[in-house]
Order: sequence, then structure tokens, then C-alpha cells
Amino acid sequence: MKIGIIGVGNIGTIIAEALIDDHQLVLVNRRTEKLKRFQSKAQIFSKIEEMPDVDILFFCVKPQDATGALKRIKRSNERVIISTVTGLKMSTIKSYLEGDIVRIMPNIPISIGKGVVGLTYSEEFPEDKKQTVKSLLSNFGVLVEIEEKHFAAVTALSGSGPAFIFVIIEALVDAGMKLGLSYDTSMELVIETIKGSAELLQKEGKHPGEYRHLVTSPGGTTIEGIYSLEREGLRGILMKMIFDTYKKALELQGDSSES
Ligand SMILES: NC(=O)c1ccc[n+]([C@@H]2O[C@H](COP(=O)([O-])OP(=O)(O)OC[C@H]3O[C@@H](n4cnc5c(N)ncnc54)[C@H](OP(=O)(O)O)[C@@H]3O)[C@@H](O)[C@H]2O)c1
Repeated sequence: MKIGIIGVGNIGTIIAEALIDDHQLVLVNRRTEKLKRFQSKAQIFSKIEEMPDVDILFFCVKPQDATGALKRIKRSNERVIISTVTGLKMSTIKSYLEGDIVRIMPNIPISIGKGVVGLTYSEEFPEDKKQTVKSLLSNFGVLVEIEEKHFAAVTALSGSGPAFIFVIIEALVDAGMKLGLSYDTSMELVIETIKGSAELLQKEGKHPGEYRHLVTSPGGTTIEGIYSLEREGLRGILMKMIFDTYKKALELQGDSSES
């Protein structure tokens, strides 16, 4: 399949690397230094106008560059456009281009095939093309179909989510180091604890509160930590963090309402 990527930055590069061995790639980026590593295996361009037609076009520029770039893409009915652009609605893409559109919200662990990708299809998206898109995107991790109105929420929870998790991991590792553990030991303990807890929840399908209760003994160490966490208002801080991110995502897509 011939696949194009406009905007080969963080996300575009990950997509190119995952697909380069199995597909013909056409890569477009303003600054061509970013394309050098692909030049022996892909067609590379600095100008959108110069790119040939493709079967699937990934659109991965920053939100502020989106309209300028959309205006320069050649029209084609046949092509599927997959947009990663935060806040860019399918109706806006449709106002510039023909073709079937998929809007996705990936997150950074797609670089190791362990991401989660929220996705939605434009109206009357053909079933055979859906299967092609699904098999292409499943290279990146788990696909979760969502309604377009929920994109801002998904942006806050899973799109930006890894950045929040990294901050939490850093804080826990630093705490371990303050208690005298080495960085490596502290990191291993934190990562395995987070991974194991998440996998346990996923495998058993229970509410997190059930396990929290299970590991909390009366008068013990865990309840001491939980008391401190509740007193400092961690739940409120985390919920506000997601809500503030959500509001910013709404703002980017030109919505101020909270629907
Ligand atoms: N990073 C994430 O974790 C993440 C997660 C979900 C969604 N997203 C969304 O995905 C999109 C891409 O994010 P990113 O982090 O990959 O951004 P990025 O690293 O800034 O990449 C965007 C690329 O687009 C290129 N570009 C912009 N306008 C262009 C044009 N007219 N012609 C050719 N190339 C052009 C830029 O080139 P120059 O470097 O030459 O300017 C840059 O390399 C964003 O809309 C972002 O919101 C990102």
C-alpha cells in the first residue's frame, strides 16, 4: 500500500518507522533534516504540493499548522485521511478535502506498539476501508472506537496521559532515592508496581477500590499513606489536571462548551 505522512515530527516519525518495512512511504516535512534517516527507503519531500497521490494519508502536523497545510493537499476521492491533529474536527478536514476521514488520538507508547489509539470514522466510511485502517493501526497498540464529541476527553486521559504518568513516576522514584534507594532500584520498584497493579485490574476487572481496601490493614502503613494522600487532596489534583487538559483540548477545537 502507498502511504503518505505529512508532518514527520514525533508522531509522524513513529508512524513512519512502524510502517516502513511493509509499505511504500511518501514522507513530507518542511525541514528535510528530519527525513534524512528515511531517504534510502522512502520518497521524501519538503513541499506538500510535490507529493504524489497515496492510498492512505497520515496528517500529523501541529494544530496551528493544520489549516495552512490542508489548503495545500491535492484533492482525491479515493484516499483515506488519518489525522492525529489535536482539536482538528473531521468537518474542518472535509471543508478542504474529499475522501474518507479517520480522526485518531494516539499516545506516545505507540512507539513500542503499546499505545492506545482513540479513533472515529467519518460518516458512511466504507467497511472494507475500515478493516484496512484497523489492521494498519493495530501495529501501534489497542484501538478504542469513540464518538467524535469525546475526543477532548480522550486527549486529556490517554493522549496527554503518558506525560502525567511520567511525572508521577519521577516523583515516586525521587521519594525512593530520598529514602536511600539507588535510582535503578527505585525505578524498577516503581515501574513494576505500576505495571503489576494495572495488569491486575485489567485481568480481574474489579474496581480499584476493592484492591485498595484489600491491602489496607487497620492501623498499618498503607492507611497512613492513604490518609496523607487524602488530606493533601491528591484525587482532586488529578481530576483537576484532567479537567484543565480537557478544557484546553476543547479550546483547540474551537469549542468552549463542556459537552
Ligand atoms: N506527541 C504526542 O504525544 C501526540 C499525541 C497525540 C496527538 N498528537 C498530535 O499529533 C500532531 C503532531 O504532533 P507531534 O508531537 O508529532 O508534533 P511535531 O513533532 O511538531 O511534528 C509536526 C511536524 O509537522 C511538520 N510540518 C508542519 N507544517 C508543515 C507543512 N506545511 N508541511 C510539511 N511539514 C509540516 C513540522 O515540521 P518542522 O519541524 O519543519 O516545523 C513537524 O516536523 C499534533 O497535532 C499533536 O497535537 C501528538
